[in-house]
Amino acid sequence: MGIKFSRKLREVLTTHEKWRRRCLNLIPSENVTSPLVRRMLASDFGHRYYWDEPWYGGQKFTEQIEQLTVEAAKQLFDAKYANVRALSGHMSLMAALMGLLEPGDSVIVSSTENGGYPLNLQARFPMDLHYFPYHQDRYSMDEEGAAELVERVKPRVVVLGASLFPFPHPTRVVAKAARKAGAVSVYDGSHVLGLIAGRQFQDPFEEGAEILLGSTHKTLFGPQGGIVLVRENMELAEQIDLMLRAPPVLVDNFHMNRVAGLGVALAELLQFGSDYARQVVLNAQTLAKSLHDRGIRVVGAERGFTESHQVLLHVDSVEEGLCIRDRLEAADIIADVGVRLGSQELTRLGMKEPEMMEVAELIQAILVDQQSPRKVKSRVHTLIDKFQEIQYCFKEEP
Ligand SMILES: Cc1ncc(COP(=O)(O)O)c(C=O)c1O
Repeated sequence: MGIKFSRKLREVLTTHEKWRRRCLNLIPSENVTSPLVRRMLASDFGHRYYWDEPWYGGQKFTEQIEQLTVEAAKQLFDAKYANVRALSGHMSLMAALMGLLEPGDSVIVSSTENGGYPLNLQARFPMDLHYFPYHQDRYSMDEEGAAELVERVKPRVVVLGASLFPFPHPTRVVAKAARKAGAVSVYDGSHVLGLIAGRQFQDPFEEGAEILLGSTHKTLFGPQGGIVLVRENMELAEQIDLMLRAPPVLVDNFHMNRVAGLGVALAELLQFGSDYARQVVLNAQTLAKSLHDRGIRVVGAERGFTESHQVLLHVDSVEEGLCIRDRLEAADIIADVGVRLGSQELTRLGMKEPEMMEVAELIQAILVDQQSPRKVKSRVHTLIDKFQEIQYCFKEEP
C-alpha cells in the first residue's frame, strides 16, 4: 500500500525538478542553493536534536555547527550577536517584536499598500500600530514625515524594510529619530540580506539600525530559514534570544541541518558575496531598462528603476497581475502576481547583462507582441539550458 505513495511522491519530485530546471525563475523571494549547502541539508544533522540544556546525548559535534554558523554570520554582517534558530524570516521578525514589546506598545511599520510586509501579530498581541507615510509615487518613504511620526508617537519599535523593495529606506533619518524618541530600530532585510552582505545595498547597521533580521533564502542564498543580528546592544540581543531558545517560546528543536547549510551559504557570501551582489543589482537594472525600452511599464523610471534585485512592473489590478503571471508561466517564465521580478536566481546561475536583455525580449514577445507563450517557451529553454550550474560557490570542497 505504502509503495504507491512513495512512487507517486518520487514521480512528482522528478517531474517538478525536470520542469523547474528549464524555467526562468523571477520570483524575488527565492534562490537556489549550492551543492555543498544541499549536502548539509540532506545530512545526518537533519535527524538530530540539539538543546541548550544537557538533556540529549550525542552532542559532540552539533554545538560546533551552530557556533561556526553564528561566527560566520557575525563576521559577514559585522554584528556582535547573531541567532540562526528562527525557522523563517517571519519567525525572526516575530521573535524581535515579541522580545522587545510589552502588550499595547506602539510600533511603526510600512503598510502593505506601500510594499510593507503584512504584520498580523496585532490580532493576538495587542499593539498600537502606525504606518510610515509614503510619497504618492510608490515605494518611496516620506523621510521628513517618517521622522515627524516617530517624534510624535514615540514608539517602542520602528520596523524598516519591505517586501516590495526596489529602493533603500531612509534608515539614517528614521534611526536617528528613533534613538531620540527612545525607540529601537529594527530593519527587516528579508529581501535584501544577500545584497547587504555583498555591500551593494544600504548598510542598515552603518546607518543606525540596531537590529537586522530576515529570511535566509532570498538574495541570501541559504536554506529556507531566519536570522537575527544585533550590532552592539547585548541587552536587546538578550531580550530577543529568550524567544528563540529553551525553555521554548517560538522555537524548540531548531533543525541543525538547516543551520549547517546556512553556515556554508554564509561562507560562500564571505568569499563571493561582493561579486554576486554587484551582478544581481546590475542585472536587475539591465532587465528593468530593457523592459522599459520595449514598452513595458516599470516602476521608478525617474530613479533608475531599482537599486536592489527587484524590478516592479506597473499593474493596475490583481486581475492584471494574475493574467501577466499566467501568460509568463505558460512560457515557463515564473513570476508573482505583484508583478515583482527578481534577478537573484538567474544571477546565481551565471547570467549577466546580455542574458537580461534576452529575458526582456522574451517577456516583450509575450506581453507586448502578444506572441503565443507556447512558441516563446522553446526560446526560454534554449536560454536556460546554457545556465545549469550554480555560481558564486566553492567548486571543490575547500
Ligand atoms: C519583508 C519581509 N519580511 C518577512 C517575510 C517573511 O519571510 P519568510 O517567508 O522567510 O517567513 C517576507 C516574505 O517574503 C518579507 O517580504
